[in-house]
Amino acid sequence: MSREKQVAIFGSGTGSNAHAILRAAREGRLGGQVAVVVTDVPGAGILDFAKEFGVPAVTIDPGKRGGGRLADETLEEMESLMLRFSVDLVVLAGFMRIVRDPFLSAFEGRILNIHPSLLPKYPGLHTVRRAMEAGETETGCTIHLVDAGVDTGQILRQERVPILEGDTERAVYARIQEAEHRAYPEVISERLENL
Ligand code: GRF
Repeated sequence: MSREKQVAIFGSGTGSNAHAILRAAREGRLGGQVAVVVTDVPGAGILDFAKEFGVPAVTIDPGKRGGGRLADETLEEMESLMLRFSVDLVVLAGFMRIVRDPFLSAFEGRILNIHPSLLPKYPGLHTVRRAMEAGETETGCTIHLVDAGVDTGQILRQERVPILEGDTERAVYARIQEAEHRAYPEVISERLENL
C-alpha cells in the first residue's frame, strides 16, 4: 500500500480554512492527512484548531526583515520542518508572509494559496472593500499555485459569489469564506491525487 500523502497548513490568523481542511481530512475527503500546522503568530486561532484535531503545531519566528518577508534562517527552518514531517503539499491559508526561495524552488508546484478575490483582480489586502468600492456585482475566491509574485501563480479554481444591493463588507466576506471552505479541501484533494 502506498504511503498516505502529507499536508502542511500555514496560517497567521483565525484558521477557518484550516478548520475546513482538518475536517475534510478527518472525514476522509482530503486524500491525505494534515501532518503539521505552522504559524508565524504566537497564539493565533489556527493553533486552537490544530489542538482540537490532535495535529502537531509549530510556531516559527519570521525574523526581523519586515514587509512580510521571511528571514533566511526561517525559510531554512520551514524546509527542514517539511522534511521532518514528510510533507508532500504545502497549503497556505491566511499566511501573511511572502514565501520565497529557496523554499519556493524546493516545493515548486506543491504550494497552494487561497485569496479572497477573483484574481487577477484585487491582489493584496482589503480585497472585498476594493471590489465593493469599484462597484463590482460579484467577487469570490481564487485557489492558485504560489510563485515568486504576490497572488500571481497559476489559477487552479475560482468560486464566484454575488455582491448584492445593501451588502456590508462583512456579509460579502462571509459569503466568500463559505465558498473557500467548500472549495479548498476539494482542490487540495485533486492536487494530492496528481502528485
Ligand atoms: C482567507 O479569507 C483567505 O482567502 C485569505 O486569508 C483568509 C484566512 O482566513 N488569504 P482564515 O484564517 O482561514 O479564517
